[in-house]
Amino acid sequence: MRREQKGVTIWLTGLSGSGKTTISSVVAEELKVLGYRVEVLDGDTVRHNLASELGFSKKDRDENIRRIGFVAHLLTRNDVIVIVAAISPYRALREEVRQRIVNFVEVFVNSPLEVCERRDLKGFYKKARAGLVKNFTGVDDPYEPPLNADIECKTDLESIIESSTKILARLSSLNYIDC
Ligand code: ADX
Repeated sequence: MRREQKGVTIWLTGLSGSGKTTISSVVAEELKVLGYRVEVLDGDTVRHNLASELGFSKKDRDENIRRIGFVAHLLTRNDVIVIVAAISPYRALREEVRQRIVNFVEVFVNSPLEVCERRDLKGFYKKARAGLVKNFTGVDDPYEPPLNADIECKTDLESIIESSTKILARLSSLNYIDC
């Protein structure tokens, strides 16, 4: 059954390995079960399909975020619930997309660098420390944490379910979903 729904972009920002992709999958599944139309734009997938020529300089990251922001904007204005999971390290770019999209909820997926590095799910931190990968966020490239995120998920202290539930509760209190 198709529900009436209002578009919104839920933007997850945080270090590599902080849990953005996992949380976005759980929230997306939960929303689908509730009958909402949802699209996930994950940094790794977008880079593979829509930004494959881009690297990790500030200029390229800004371009990547602008592309993600543009697609998120199109979907949001067509009443899709969009979940973005991208490091998006620069505050100014996150602010730029927020201004454009308007229905925008910023989620800071906050886990200390040491914890992300210990997890090292894709082995990038090890390579970055060895100098084999350059400009790696948190190692030799900046991450500007949000100053005023709508939601903060401290993934070293809370479970994925707790983080996801927090996001769903906020969507409900903002009247984007009924649950
Ligand atoms: S963003 O900075 O432009 O927002 P995005 O989220 O799309 O980054 O991509 C991050 C992913 O690219 C990481 O999770 C990791 O798998 C991979 N990656 C490869 N090189 C780097 C790097 N130098 N810095 C950060 N992530 C990198």
